[in-house]
Amino acid sequence: GAVSRGGYRHFMLKEIYEQAGVVSATLEGRLTENHVLTRSFGAAADTLFDQVDAIQIVACGTSYHAGMVARYWIEKLAGIPTQVEVASEYRYRDVVVPRNTLFVTLSQSGETADTLAALRFAQSQNKYLGTLAICNVPGSSLVRESELSLMTQAGPEIGVASTKAFTTQLVALLLLALALRHQRQGNDDVQANAVKALRHLPDVLKETLALDSAIETLSAAFAEKHHALFLGRGPQFPIALEGALKLKEISYIHAEAYPAGELKHGPLALVDSEMPVIAVAPNDELLEKLKSNLQEVRARGGELFVFADSRANISEGEGVHVMTLPQVDELVAPIIYTVPLQLLSYHVAVLKGTDVDQPRNLAKSVTVE
Ligand code: G6P
Repeated sequence: GAVSRGGYRHFMLKEIYEQAGVVSATLEGRLTENHVLTRSFGAAADTLFDQVDAIQIVACGTSYHAGMVARYWIEKLAGIPTQVEVASEYRYRDVVVPRNTLFVTLSQSGETADTLAALRFAQSQNKYLGTLAICNVPGSSLVRESELSLMTQAGPEIGVASTKAFTTQLVALLLLALALRHQRQGNDDVQANAVKALRHLPDVLKETLALDSAIETLSAAFAEKHHALFLGRGPQFPIALEGALKLKEISYIHAEAYPAGELKHGPLALVDSEMPVIAVAPNDELLEKLKSNLQEVRARGGELFVFADSRANISEGEGVHVMTLPQVDELVAPIIYTVPLQLLSYHVAVLKGTDVDQPRNLAKSVTVE
């Protein structure tokens, strides 16, 4: 039947708020007390995952950003070299495929033309160990044509700008990284802690959503701006990219994302009082480096909006706004930090009066090239 907005002003806002529930649905039945069940990826996953020596991820749009986060997780947790590429590039070049490469597609719809074509191209080359689709639509072309699949349980996503599909993809990809680690070395504390953090995730998502009205207040600072710069490091760099994409898609403000360490190699030239800078700054080993990047921005008059937890010790001040997020395990931080950036672009778009659920020129599912 038709999906309703259920009292929310837009589907996008409803879908942002559904994230705690759909994340817990995506975890359902896939975890033990201390590890991820490999069979969540299909009966053949056990044998196949044992043989994986490399991973190629292919996707478009927001799904591509999920793939970029996955690379950090898979290489850290499973030690498997991972490549990530947009489907429209991958399918048109001469690809060198390392031995025993698992080909992974990510897609909300399972019908994106380039992603599907990339899967068919990969299969036609006969060089891959196997194919896995992480997808939100059961029975979609991508799922039907892949050997293995894992469904995200986001439910129907109506807003063109993807929100809950992205966070559930991230959950699915963390499950993949952990399952691959388990295949290689059995149980360990890293997995036990990750399982705990995953089980805790729906509650933390709810806590994070409570920042909504504070973020709404913050959004006023963006409504008149023409550009914005998002910075992140490590697995939060793709989260910065996704934050910039959301702002572009629904508020039509030009936004770019940079890995914070590249700031001096170009984008710093653009920073002045007219260019708000958003930093995703969780408490991890790169925080000190990010802090010095932020000083560079302040020194040039750039107004800073920092999303960090209390341990980060970044204080509010002239031109520095801090949104304090709940303290979370570093591994799941990219999932949590996605939410305030979704809310920020949502509120900026509402202020600007754009068509939030159906932004101009964009389609929910790009089924033609
Ligand atoms: C379109 C949508 C995006 C989405 C992308 C990939 O551009 O507007 O929100 O991320 O397609 O879609 P998929 O269904 O393959 O994830």
